[in-house]
Amino acid sequence: KSKIITIENINDAALSDLETAAAFIKAGGTVVFPTETVYGLGGDAFNPLAIKKIFEAKGRPDDNPLIVHIASLDAVGPLVAAIPEKAERLMKAFWPGPLTIVMEKAVTIPAVVTGGLNTVGVRFPDHPIAQAFIKMAGCPIAAPSANRSGRPSPTQGKHVLEDLDGRVDGIILSSDTELGLESTVIDMTVEPPMVLRPGDVTLAELREVLGQVAVSTNVTQNVVPEKIASPGMKYTHYSPKGDLVVVKGTSEEICEKITRALSHYKGNPMTIGVLASDETMGCYREGLIISLGSRNDPREMSKNLFSRLRTFDELGVEKIYAEDIPLDNETLALINRLYKAAGYTFI
Ligand code: TXA
Ligand code: MG
Repeated sequence: KSKIITIENINDAALSDLETAAAFIKAGGTVVFPTETVYGLGGDAFNPLAIKKIFEAKGRPDDNPLIVHIASLDAVGPLVAAIPEKAERLMKAFWPGPLTIVMEKAVTIPAVVTGGLNTVGVRFPDHPIAQAFIKMAGCPIAAPSANRSGRPSPTQGKHVLEDLDGRVDGIILSSDTELGLESTVIDMTVEPPMVLRPGDVTLAELREVLGQVAVSTNVTQNVVPEKIASPGMKYTHYSPKGDLVVVKGTSEEICEKITRALSHYKGNPMTIGVLASDETMGCYREGLIISLGSRNDPREMSKNLFSRLRTFDELGVEKIYAEDIPLDNETLALINRLYKAAGYTFI
């Protein structure tokens, strides 16, 4: 059984509960904690046995590196070989916050943390509970998202319980996470710096601080799916249990295509779902229609994506049609996660 620790705000009672969580970390154990992006599954970054437990609890392939979380700027030094000047600028501009900075790693970081790479991703989360927890643990905390591998990342306590109750020593439950998508990851060991994963810190914001910034083909492939080497390739990131496809076209075309698919569906109409928006959900007459939020509020849609995918699962939906989302600076991360969740299947 996992020890469940519920904390809404940081106060004296919360601090004494956090001691329990910190004690698990000090003993080489694992603890789930909230951040402003998604919940994380943490362990002592300098303890290879704790790292092994993280990979086991998640069911994660061990060549996928973990992000190391800190709660003060002076904690970066011991994690890296050197801090590049441009990385320092990023820290000033975006930390604490949803940005992971990849730098050359210190030799003392166990290879299991970085999947054998000679770089390490470092993040200083902007969440009072995460910060207090990391400080009390007294060590940097390596943490992937707290989902079972392949599942949508957890943005609510109940998602964590579904995936990891009984698989970790402690779970700190709190309010739903504010941003709902994982941090932006930027590689500062290459020139120009390269975004490996889009997130709430946008390309435009990064370019304001750094000048030129490249974007990994892993990301651009997402938005220009024709470029994918083997189009049939089925990724299993973030996937709901139901079969998810993204429907492309103008708003009218999308509405028509989905309406046609709904009318041809032979099964129970409540096992077919549509992931729509506040503005477009009125188009549909049958099926289980769920809004991601308003088209005018990309951050609201981003916050909701993973929990909506899990809602379809809870309701036993077998086939999900997701409306495509117009691409711009604010929607890149959302589109990246949606397409991955759909395994790049489009109609
Ligand atoms: O918002 C977040 O980043 C959340 C919260 C818990 O902080 N964490 C998270 O971790 O999303 P995870 O393990 O689910 O995703 C980490 C991503 C992966 O895509 C991984 O490949 C990349 O960061 N990454 C980590 N270290 C890296 C490195 N040294 N080089 C390149 N990519 C790295
Ligand atoms: Mg993850």
